[in-house]
Amino acid sequence: MGTTVVVGAQWGDEGKGKVVDRYAATAQAVVRYQGGANAGHTLVVGGQKTALHLLPSGIVRAGMENFVGPGVLFDCDVGAAELAIAERCGAKVFLDHSAPIVLPIHRIIDAARETSAGGNAIGTTKRGIGPAASDFWLRRSLSLGDLRVPADIRAVLTEGGYFAELCAIARQHGGPATVPDMELDPYSLDATIAWCAEHGKRFAPYLQDTRKMVWGLIDHDAEVVFEGAQGVLLDTYHGSRPYTTSSSCTAAGVSMSFGVYQFERVVGVTKAYATRVGGGPFPTELADVLGEQLRERGHEYGTTTGRPRRCGWLDTVALRHACRVGGVTELVVTKLDVLSNFGALATCDGYVFDGVVETNPGALTGTVLRGARPHLRAHAGWEGDVTEARTIDALPDTAVRYLEHIAKSAGVPVSGIGIGADRDAFIPCTIVP
Ligand code: GDP
Ligand code: IMO
Ligand code: MG
Repeated sequence: MGTTVVVGAQWGDEGKGKVVDRYAATAQAVVRYQGGANAGHTLVVGGQKTALHLLPSGIVRAGMENFVGPGVLFDCDVGAAELAIAERCGAKVFLDHSAPIVLPIHRIIDAARETSAGGNAIGTTKRGIGPAASDFWLRRSLSLGDLRVPADIRAVLTEGGYFAELCAIARQHGGPATVPDMELDPYSLDATIAWCAEHGKRFAPYLQDTRKMVWGLIDHDAEVVFEGAQGVLLDTYHGSRPYTTSSSCTAAGVSMSFGVYQFERVVGVTKAYATRVGGGPFPTELADVLGEQLRERGHEYGTTTGRPRRCGWLDTVALRHACRVGGVTELVVTKLDVLSNFGALATCDGYVFDGVVETNPGALTGTVLRGARPHLRAHAGWEGDVTEARTIDALPDTAVRYLEHIAKSAGVPVSGIGIGADRDAFIPCTIVP
């Protein structure tokens, strides 16, 4: 019993959805606490794939309580689509009154800034995350609770010229006229109010004080899983700015938005190799045939945007840093199967700066990561198929040695191994550092 936090221990897409789904099997509730529809969490059950972006991964389980907390940037169209999935599956959904709304014009600004940045673009998901998060911190967002009353929507959007200012920013950056897959004119105040009000009717029955409800569950010792989005290396504070997202992707994200500080475990999820989508420094990137092989064998294409993910060797310096600043107490290593029959493997165990190897470079700012050359350690690979293994004894010795190296370098135990995308393709284990 107790609280489990699942965080990404790399740059996102580590397989958090699958790990959350496993913990959900014995939990009463699953809670999204940060990020927004920039996330793409994949669940595969009996070969059937579901990709979720905004609602918790517990919505595919009948009877499960799913919470969208006050720190989640709420995209109404995605929310409505995923609410329909939850209803079909018989899951319960509670949406926080205070969750800030991503407006269509936020998506326009995100896209326009990316285009006008040219070669310096961040490579965002264009889901309006940065602009909506800015407005939240400027204390002027619309929140889900405001959508019930059209007069309230108008009041928030016109207060201090809020909506007009957003339109001016969008135009200044040469914003496009429309948002993909949306018919409304994103620059029209009336159309935006009507869009909000329509969604407001749909979401009204689901609105709750999710903090109070989650505190109640914790006080009654219920098992609660907090589902992180993105990854620690994309965290606004700890990532390589400006190539980060706009939320707290560590366990602190739970504390910030839910005021919960005690966790039974914080599970960091890492792939057995590394990927990154979008711009930003990536010391172990393999911009060659090996990187392409990882991409093809691992199906490394974005769940949200379909973009090819950049691929490279596992970076244990970045992983150890992510475990430290993310609050990680144990690791699940996913996609071990992708490394089968790969030949010799490597991990990056230090960064080389001016010919000197540094294993503890401190905060991984953009400047540090940009200047880092990887110091690689070779590992023996393994042949054969590991996807049917269900105990650690069924894995090749060299695969176990590789996992032991991950635990030792990260400084936390490995408690699970992913050897396929399906819910059951998982090996519980205890590999101590
Ligand atoms: P998330 O954002 O962290 O939830 O991860 P994504 O869903 O964006 O990307 C992870 C991808 O890897 C998805 O397609 C998963 O179905 C898949 N996956 C997860 N675990 C494993 C694993 O152990 N092996 C393989 N081959 N695929 C996995
Ligand atoms: P999940 O939850 C991988 C990346 C984007 C970009 C940067 C900023 O599926 O792991 P944003 O749209 O957030 O302003 O983009 O962050 N990014 C992700 N990369 N997985 C994600 O989520 C991501 N969410 C954002 O590619 O580099
Ligand atoms: Mg993803």
